[in-house]
Amino acid sequence: MTHNAKKAGVIGWPVGHSKSPLIHGHWLKKYGIDAAYVAIPAQPDDLKREVDKMIAGGFYGFNVTVPHKQAIIPMLDFVRADAERIGAVNTVVINPDGTLEGRNTDAFGFIENLKEAAPKLKLGRGTAIVLGAGGAARAIVYALGHEGYKDIRIFNRTLGRARELAQAFPGAEGFAWDELPDHLPDAALLVNTTSLGMKGQPELNLNISTLSKKALVNDIVYNPLKTGLLVSAHARGNPIVTGIGMLLHQARPAFQAWFGIMPDVDAALRKKVLA
Ligand code: ATR
Repeated sequence: MTHNAKKAGVIGWPVGHSKSPLIHGHWLKKYGIDAAYVAIPAQPDDLKREVDKMIAGGFYGFNVTVPHKQAIIPMLDFVRADAERIGAVNTVVINPDGTLEGRNTDAFGFIENLKEAAPKLKLGRGTAIVLGAGGAARAIVYALGHEGYKDIRIFNRTLGRARELAQAFPGAEGFAWDELPDHLPDAALLVNTTSLGMKGQPELNLNISTLSKKALVNDIVYNPLKTGLLVSAHARGNPIVTGIGMLLHQARPAFQAWFGIMPDVDAALRKKVLA
């Protein structure tokens, strides 16, 4: 990096485990861009100060991660319509005049992963079943609606959250967790958006014996790459898509917004992120 190098980063707390520096660093090198992508740890009280420092420091923009994806919104001059609907911003572009534009690239990442890994899936057709009703689910339910799904069934431990999420999106309905077995035969797509199955978290422990054999099963958890859900779905012959592609694809539009090149997801990048 030279003195006048471009800068971008990711702000969060904690931020040390973020894969974004690795992903963007890979692309900067690959495309020969003289820039640095740095991790900026900031607790909630420090968010505004750290954002102001980035503006003053000539940053092109930054990613926003836990716990700031909602808190950042009042600090922005513009928020794109999709980010507004999702209610969370994961990417900020700093314009040359210092104004800030918020975007959300998670919905894009989710859909691009399905398109790449399951090109035969007829997006928008049939019933989509979503497990979980947190922040990740919100972006995914938005994405599913945008792709044309008119039957989106959300199952969550806390029924109220499932109903509340469903209310915000046409075609979505919230259900209690124990109703799931009755609905699994209808699924064309089953997505886990909960943290269950992630390393260090409890297993999802879902009985999928009633799941349609044709249903595509996707987990957004990528550590481990093959979650318990994906292992059991694969064992009974269902097509599966892992979660790593969502992480990689969501980073692409941010890189393009800052550096002007839409990067691709190559095998070397996949390998690095999974290492
Ligand atoms: P994220 O932004 O990653 O989606 P979140 O907003 O905290 O994180 O949401 C986590 C999701 O995982 C929620 O759907 C949560 O269910 P509740 O709404 O009932 O909390 C779900 N989840 C987390 N731990 C769980 C557990 N042990 N059993 C069932 N669901 C769980």
